[in-house]
Amino acid sequence: MYDITNYVPPEIARKLSGILGVHMWRLMADSDGRSGRSTSENLYFALESDREEVGIAYWRLQPMPGCGGICISSSAEVHPAYRRMGLGTVLNRLRVYLASKLGYGCILCTSIESNIAQNRILEKNGWKVKARFINPKTGNTVHISVKNLYKLRKE
Ligand SMILES: CC(C)(COP(=O)(O)OP(=O)(O)OC[C@H]1O[C@@H](n2cnc3c(N)ncnc32)[C@H](O)[C@@H]1OP(=O)(O)O)[C@@H](O)C(=O)NCCC(=O)NCCS
Repeated sequence: MYDITNYVPPEIARKLSGILGVHMWRLMADSDGRSGRSTSENLYFALESDREEVGIAYWRLQPMPGCGGICISSSAEVHPAYRRMGLGTVLNRLRVYLASKLGYGCILCTSIESNIAQNRILEKNGWKVKARFINPKTGNTVHISVKNLYKLRKE
């Protein structure tokens, strides 16, 4: 894992420090080793405590196979001990920022309709629900949400 704390933009770094304490966190990233021929990599991110061996939050950004410039955000999770402090919201912003910096034009994610916290985060951060379907295996209603990063770059 590589320490990429310096890549966190100041305004997001300030928010993370406001929640967790100044110099109490670091952002790590690595290829998750499953990248194929694509020039973009599957990337795994972890927000860690700087004081103890505690994983605070995780997520992945994966290039969508065969398509140009679209990444899938998956496996986003905040450790239960750190939930409802605003981290999920700030980390969603960081995820969008990193995807844009990595050169993607669109970011896509799925969420279960009953996941109030995640859907609230997506709504607050300007993601648009583009499709809803039922997962035949679980019976869950799943949302597919997207955010246009190209538009974001031009703002
Ligand atoms: C979804 C998740 C990442 C949210 O992380 P978090 O750090 O708790 O999120 P925040 O503190 O930023 O809260 C976001 C919003 O959801 C609300 N919220 C959070 N947990 C909630 C709950 N259990 N019930 C109702 N609302 C909740 C918050 O009040 C906040 O809304 P507000 O901004 O209007 O006040 C976290 O709950 C988690 O890791 N869940 C398990 C994994 C998961 O579901 N990942 C997403 C897969 S699609």
